[in-house]
Amino acid sequence: MHSFGYRANALLTFAITILALMCAMASLSDTLSSPSPSSQVQVLNINWFQKQPNGNDEVSMTLNISADLQSLFTWNTKQVFVFLAAEYETSKNSLNQISLWDAIIPSKERAKFWIHTSNKYRFIDQGSNLRSKEFNLTMHWHVMPKTGKMSANKIVMPGYRLPDEYI
Ligand SMILES: *[C@@H]1O[C@H](CO)[C@@H](O)[C@H](O)[C@H]1NC(C)=O
Ligand SMILES: *[C@@H]1O[C@H](CO)[C@@H](O)[C@H](O)[C@H]1NC(C)=O
Repeated sequence: MHSFGYRANALLTFAITILALMCAMASLSDTLSSPSPSSQVQVLNINWFQKQPNGNDEVSMTLNISADLQSLFTWNTKQVFVFLAAEYETSKNSLNQISLWDAIIPSKERAKFWIHTSNKYRFIDQGSNLRSKEFNLTMHWHVMPKTGKMSANKIVMPGYRLPDEYI
């Protein structure tokens, strides 16, 4: 006859095996699902555009940021971190990336939104490269799952341009 301790131990091992299997399946089903998020951003206004006394350009913009990230949410999604970055090229750097806005999206219900806002973080160039500068606005996201690996992706929205003169 098996002792009680032996049976309890066997049961525990079985339970842990099932749990591990479920976690593996959860992250696998996440890997297999192919989300189709979308985002649009309009620059509604250039509030001001200046060269600071130290020689760096700074611009303040009013944006309408809209996104539908609901498809990133599966039952295994804890939350999604998003940030909107201005990305542009200068003679010094092939990629300058400046975060303008970010948010933590806690649930699927909150993952479809639009927000009318000026840039939350300062848009400053290390130099005076911003006049007539073409830039992309890129919506980046990091999906934090309940179990499994974090994943990240982005949507690049090209074709924005800053004014030719300071205002
Ligand atoms: C922002 O964009 C959304 C979706 O494109 C639109 O429904 C909304 O009216 C816009 N809001 C403003 C203030 O432009
Ligand atoms: C902006 O987007 C375009 C089109 O996707 C891409 O070719 C270009 O490299 C991007 N620019 C930067 C600085 O990332």
